[in-house]
Amino acid sequence: MSGFSADWLALREPYDLRARNLAVLDAVVAAFAEHPSVAVVDLACGTGSTVRALAPRLPARQAWRLVDNDIGLLARASVTLAPTRVTVTAVPLDLNVDLEAALNAPIDLLTASALLDLVSGDWLERLAVETAVRAVPVYAALSYDGRVSFDPSDAADAEIVAAINTHQRRDKGFGPALGPAAATTATARFEALGYRVTHGTSDWVLGPGDRDIQAEICTGWAGAARETGMLSRSVLTGWLTRRRAAITADRSSLQVGHVDLFAQPTGTRWADRSQSSSRSPSS
Ligand SMILES: C[S@@+](CC[C@H](N)C(=O)[O-])C[C@H]1O[C@@H](n2cnc3c(N)ncnc32)[C@H](O)[C@@H]1O
Repeated sequence: MSGFSADWLALREPYDLRARNLAVLDAVVAAFAEHPSVAVVDLACGTGSTVRALAPRLPARQAWRLVDNDIGLLARASVTLAPTRVTVTAVPLDLNVDLEAALNAPIDLLTASALLDLVSGDWLERLAVETAVRAVPVYAALSYDGRVSFDPSDAADAEIVAAINTHQRRDKGFGPALGPAAATTATARFEALGYRVTHGTSDWVLGPGDRDIQAEICTGWAGAARETGMLSRSVLTGWLTRRRAAITADRSSLQVGHVDLFAQPTGTRWADRSQSSSRSPSS
């Protein structure tokens, strides 16, 4: 499975759903509780896991614009809700080039999942400034934060994790990636722009029964670690062989650190905007 393949996104979706930080999610839901409708733009939507996670908790009338540069993933993006007052529009855009175009729409809430760790500091700054000038709240979930723990532990774990975290900072199409620093950087940038940020961990907690996702993660990590050139082939092969054996024997647990955040504008523009959209539908 490749990094953004539909199969990988389908495999991780239930674990992402379970991992989402409930306090952060509650803050998002509370911000729109009085609104009759909400217009949401989801950046780098993949097959639409954010709309499936969030739509059941937002006001019944919702208009989602799902943005991604992979038209194969966009074509699979859907949500099934009853009553069906959720509209979904697929928008193919390269967000590194056309971020501003993605935001030029009616928008009460910006969402993203598993995106911020892919982007550069410059791109994040662009996002923060563009959302701040529009006084738009931002819910960014599931940013990898560099914390990994294995059970049983292995002598090569620390070297592997160091290599993964080095690989995480490589260019993923947006310039040198923030990787594990994404959530702390985003929190600092939004706060500097006058936002109030609610954040909390959203770790994948994978037990012995979660064999397929653990095997997929470990295989992907071994490949990423190899690309860094930081470990010898024999260390990598030995590590992956022992990990796979533990997974197959139902002896393996794995915790992968993520952070969710909800950044809310605090200025008078947001108060005006919020009051007017709680009176009249914006979409
Ligand atoms: C890790 S996946 C997350 C997908 C989805 N948000 C989720 O949580 O399942 C990252 C997504 O970013 C998209 N992506 C990567 N680079 C992009 C770019 N330059 N413009 C738009 N989307 C991009 C990929 O196609 C993929 O859908």
